[in-house]
Amino acid sequence: MELVGHVRDLRGDPISNAVVEIWHCDTQGRYAHVGNNNGGAADADFQGYGAVRAGADGSYRFRTIIPGVYPGRVRHIHANIHAEDRPTLTTQMYFPDEPGNARDVLFRRVPSDAARDALIARKESAETPRFVFDVHLA
Ligand SMILES: [Fe+2]
Repeated sequence: MELVGHVRDLRGDPISNAVVEIWHCDTQGRYAHVGNNNGGAADADFQGYGAVRAGADGSYRFRTIIPGVYPGRVRHIHANIHAEDRPTLTTQMYFPDEPGNARDVLFRRVPSDAARDALIARKESAETPRFVFDVHLA
């Protein structure tokens, strides 16, 4: 899949040179991390983590795999977004059309419909599945 988006401030202006980090489990719900507790080793052919620097227009792009799920969680991608002179945003991206979203232990704690909607990527039709996840930094 492709994961693309823009990093912007709260007015909608692009934040250039932000660093976007993502990490997620492999197709079997296993993390490439010592804390992986979903049984067995993670897929050795999947890196599990990536970081890119956003362009001048705030855009970023990853090519990765669609993560699996692990007990207690719906499909998701973790993200940290760092930009100079701003607090780091730590968040999770959720996938659209996942029936388990509403039952996810973390997603359901998000306090408003608008906030939950902002955490769900938008799927674009493309040859490779493409998910758009825009972030706004305070
Ligand atoms: Fe996770």
